[in-house]
Amino acid sequence: MASIKLPGFSSSLIKARFLPFNHDGSRGNTVVCIRRDVDPLSLEFSSTNSLRTLSLRSYASSSPVISAKLTTEASAKVIDGKSVAKTIRDEVAAEVSRMKDAIGVAPGLAVILVGNKKDSATYVRNKKKACESVGINSFEVHLPEDSAEQEVLKFISGFNDDPTVHGILVQLPLPSHMNEQNILNAVSLEKDVDGFHPLNIGRLAMRGRDPLFVPCTPKGCVELLHRYGVEIKGKRAVVIGRSNIVGMPAALLLQREDATVSIVHSRTKNPEEVTRQADIIISAVGQPNMVRGNWIKPGAVIIDVGINPVEDSKSPRGYQLVGDVCYEEACKVASAITPVPGGVGPMTIAMLLSNTLISAKRMHNFQ
Ligand code: GUN
Repeated sequence: MASIKLPGFSSSLIKARFLPFNHDGSRGNTVVCIRRDVDPLSLEFSSTNSLRTLSLRSYASSSPVISAKLTTEASAKVIDGKSVAKTIRDEVAAEVSRMKDAIGVAPGLAVILVGNKKDSATYVRNKKKACESVGINSFEVHLPEDSAEQEVLKFISGFNDDPTVHGILVQLPLPSHMNEQNILNAVSLEKDVDGFHPLNIGRLAMRGRDPLFVPCTPKGCVELLHRYGVEIKGKRAVVIGRSNIVGMPAALLLQREDATVSIVHSRTKNPEEVTRQADIIISAVGQPNMVRGNWIKPGAVIIDVGINPVEDSKSPRGYQLVGDVCYEEACKVASAITPVPGGVGPMTIAMLLSNTLISAKRMHNFQ
């Protein structure tokens, strides 16, 4: 609720609710204004660069009956995934230590990497480092690009039977000659800390069933919403992207939390219009700056999963990382937004550590 004093109406306070508006400055149709002593007024809400301007007009006439303007600098709250992820790592480390002291068992995570994709190798290195930092044992297998699928299955089977391993992760994508489905099916349901086994995904989708694990990136997105006190129940959520790793499970997870969920994908006819309905947006498409300011309803909360390199001659690396959402525009419209980098990225690994701890506790019946 915003309040403004009107010139000539010294005692009157207008209360305005900011509901959807058109980012290009044209009139939004659901902005509501309540004033106690006169006919209802409509509010025109325009946004130019970093400024939000409110001006008042009567419903009956196109000419303003009063002139009052409220201009505010609008800037969304930054959802700091880096800091939340650090808190979660500290919580996991404390629990790992308590478990070791109590029953002499440390959680163990096995990671299988096939091939030489640079970004996959970086993710796996970061996962290993994060395990070390919280006292989780890590086991790594690195196989050449041209390995046979059978070779991967053999390692999975060994880790399935190893009681010191509580979580198994096969880094995706796999080389194209491998059948991803066969490989994900082979991971023991009880050690599927990625939550990608079809039975875990199926249970995520079903009412009255619970998966043993929820995929790490979507779980991290929802954890950010929880830790920032964003209400999900009854809200409209739009997930942009329908990948098996992020978009699809994110939509299922939001639905489990009682949001009304739409999925926007490459064949959606009017993605801007659908997205503009959302109170919560999770974007995971891998398209730099695709979601513009005028796709966003004022006050929406934005979780940007995209990590996209774009050329930047001024950067020493020659590129910079940007999200799927145009941050400069979005932060003037949204109420809260994750930055890239430093938003969802660190949460994925924090959730992997958390899932591995959950698995070890469950296997050893440790509360
Ligand atoms: N590739 C990109 N994200 C992920 C992930 O969360 N898990 C696995 N296994 N592979 C990935």
